[in-house]
Amino acid sequence: MATDFLPINGTDHIEFYVGNAKQSALFYQYAFGFDLVAYAGPETGVRDRASYVLRQGKITLVLTTSLQPDSEISEHVRKHGDGVKVLALWVDDARKSFDETVMRGAEIARKPEVLTDEFGEVVISSIKTYGETIHTFVERKNYKGPFLPGYKPRQSTYKAQPIGLKYVDHCVGNVELGKMNTWVEFYEKVMGFSLLVTFDDKDISTEYSALMSKVVSNGNGYIKFPINEPAQGKKKSQIEEYLDFYKGPGVQHIAIATDDIIHTVGELRRRGVEFLYVPETYYEDVLDRVGKINESLEELKKLNILIDRDEEGYLLQIFTKPVQDRPTVFFEIIERNGAKSFGKGNFKALFESIEREQALRGNL
Ligand code: FE2
Repeated sequence: MATDFLPINGTDHIEFYVGNAKQSALFYQYAFGFDLVAYAGPETGVRDRASYVLRQGKITLVLTTSLQPDSEISEHVRKHGDGVKVLALWVDDARKSFDETVMRGAEIARKPEVLTDEFGEVVISSIKTYGETIHTFVERKNYKGPFLPGYKPRQSTYKAQPIGLKYVDHCVGNVELGKMNTWVEFYEKVMGFSLLVTFDDKDISTEYSALMSKVVSNGNGYIKFPINEPAQGKKKSQIEEYLDFYKGPGVQHIAIATDDIIHTVGELRRRGVEFLYVPETYYEDVLDRVGKINESLEELKKLNILIDRDEEGYLLQIFTKPVQDRPTVFFEIIERNGAKSFGKGNFKALFESIEREQALRGNL
């Protein structure tokens, strides 16, 4: 096997550009149980933006807003609404990651830079991916600070109650009709990922809408990026609705792993997070499809958690409604019991649920 030219240790962080970072930060602390760990803004010498860094398990979220009307950040928010700007990857060598990918055709977003402060140094570099999204390579082996140089440690007066979120399982991108294969090739050629699985419109079409999806993964499998494009259906695909409101390609959902989905989702619901609704009839014959599971079906049904099985095991999953006003980014909560797949058996029930929401928004 050829050596991996882009070894990745995991997801480093996910940065959202938002309209009001202070309020978004409180939402993720209160509702999702993230801890505030660092901050950059006017009080720390950063004049043009404010960024809140939140952490739970191995997940780091950064919420950034512009303090000026005419910056790259404010332009991003004006066009896309709140959305994901950076999918950052933790690497041992950010210069080499940059050189190897740029040599293979990546567009440069930020040349390698050494950032330093009293906690040490970090090397970062960035390349462009679909839409205005970027991948930042973060080399932090010589750094002991809470996030990145320039950020100061910060605690909240609110004591976050974690809900068992462990790590980023996968991040999904929506791209335009006909562009899925272009981006799959990008991940294969430029980043050395390989194609893990393909879903065509026969797998995932409902009466109305359809989509196509391919999943690419890096060498060690820690990074999985499904890429969706709309497919022809009777009515508007959920992917088209996203593209219409995000004004182009971007991150559709972030899947976060938990070891105890019943606890995690129970807490999220108690704190007001809204989920897609799947009718109770889903539970009537689900065990015929998935076989024996360890959890109580009653509890899963009460929380509206979905179940699927593949050759290696089963998984439990649920999807939030969009977490901002535009029908764009949402979260998936997933508990894997051996299964390495993505819940194909639930696609139909799920997409019918999404279509009900689209119809309510007048977008079907
Ligand atoms: Fe997913």
